[in-house]
Amino acid sequence: MNNESVVGNYSLFDDNEIDNTIRPETIDEYIGQTDVKENIKVFIEAAKMRKEPLDHVLLYGPPGLGKTTLAFIIAHEMGTNIKTASGPSIEKSGDLAAILSSLEPGDVLFIDEIHRMPRYIEEILYPAMEDFSLDIIIGSEGNSRNIRIDLPPFTLVGATTRAGDLSSPLRDRFGIVSKLQFYTVSELESIIKRTARVLNVQIEDDAAFELAKRSRGTPRIANRLFKRVRDFALVKNNGIVNLDITLEALDRLKVDYLGLDNTDRELLLAIINKFNGGPVGVEAIASSIGEEVTTIEDVCEPYLLQIGLIKRTSRGRVATDKAYDLLGIDKKGSK
Ligand SMILES: Nc1ncnc2c1ncn2[C@@H]1O[C@H](COP(=O)(O)OP(=O)(O)OP(=O)(O)O)[C@@H](O)[C@H]1O
Ligand SMILES: [Mg+2]
Repeated sequence: MNNESVVGNYSLFDDNEIDNTIRPETIDEYIGQTDVKENIKVFIEAAKMRKEPLDHVLLYGPPGLGKTTLAFIIAHEMGTNIKTASGPSIEKSGDLAAILSSLEPGDVLFIDEIHRMPRYIEEILYPAMEDFSLDIIIGSEGNSRNIRIDLPPFTLVGATTRAGDLSSPLRDRFGIVSKLQFYTVSELESIIKRTARVLNVQIEDDAAFELAKRSRGTPRIANRLFKRVRDFALVKNNGIVNLDITLEALDRLKVDYLGLDNTDRELLLAIINKFNGGPVGVEAIASSIGEEVTTIEDVCEPYLLQIGLIKRTSRGRVATDKAYDLLGIDKKGSK
């Protein structure tokens, strides 16, 4: 990838190409996640000193926190190639066998959404991860035999939004398990300023701060909001992103001061108005607002829990007092 050709010329490229441009490539460019980053740096250095591949890494956490980015950075820092696959796209055991047997010594194999790989395929990974070998069955039924093929040493990097859905034999085979956390406002500010720099857009400090506050602790959202605000700035303010244009754009995008969007608000309103504040099961919430259960669990809830607008109890989700305040609903009056 050639960053140079994109700077200052971004209007020629679509959002996906911009995504590749703004994705940090080295571990030092990767902002935040200090604990995870510092540990991985040590493990990478040690693996290099031993001239061995890095141990297998499992990255988990809500969408958009930088799992894929970190997988690419690991390969970059190890000086190796990365091959990518995703759990749902590996449908047959032969698919995985083909991927594994294409690996070169030291390669990183990144499997995104690894929790969505069928269990019988997962089992092929066990000997591959443990002994770098591939057990395959050849021949037809009644006349089949097992053969074992040696694989080159490699590093599996698995990413998932749902570590709990991973089987324990698979989880146990990862030597490094790292949970990515939501980012702080100041880390998101740095990410937004970095993105602005890479895309050659001028942004004022108070505008970056405002965007960071409304990005739900998530770099992908920070970058997405920044790109939209940049459009408003281009059309209305000579391309300069200042606070006024940022507030106007965020207002139009219906992103409130906590970064909540319509789905979040609908979810909170459903718990409060339709289910008396809860407790209510996630399935009931999902059908009442017409969303998938997984979207609610993986995308909406982690942040609403983090900022204390809902609580999870054994009997279901409950809206907190803070949620009533935010929506301007009188708690007693609504019951
Ligand atoms: N630590 C970081 N520093 C700077 N930018 C980051 C960082 N983490 C993520 N980003 C940016 O945020 C975007 C989203 O990150 P990424 O695609 O790695 O998330 P993800 O965790 O893999 O999400 P998903 O679970 O949806 O696959 C990237 O395009 C990258 O530019
Ligand atoms: Mg990803």
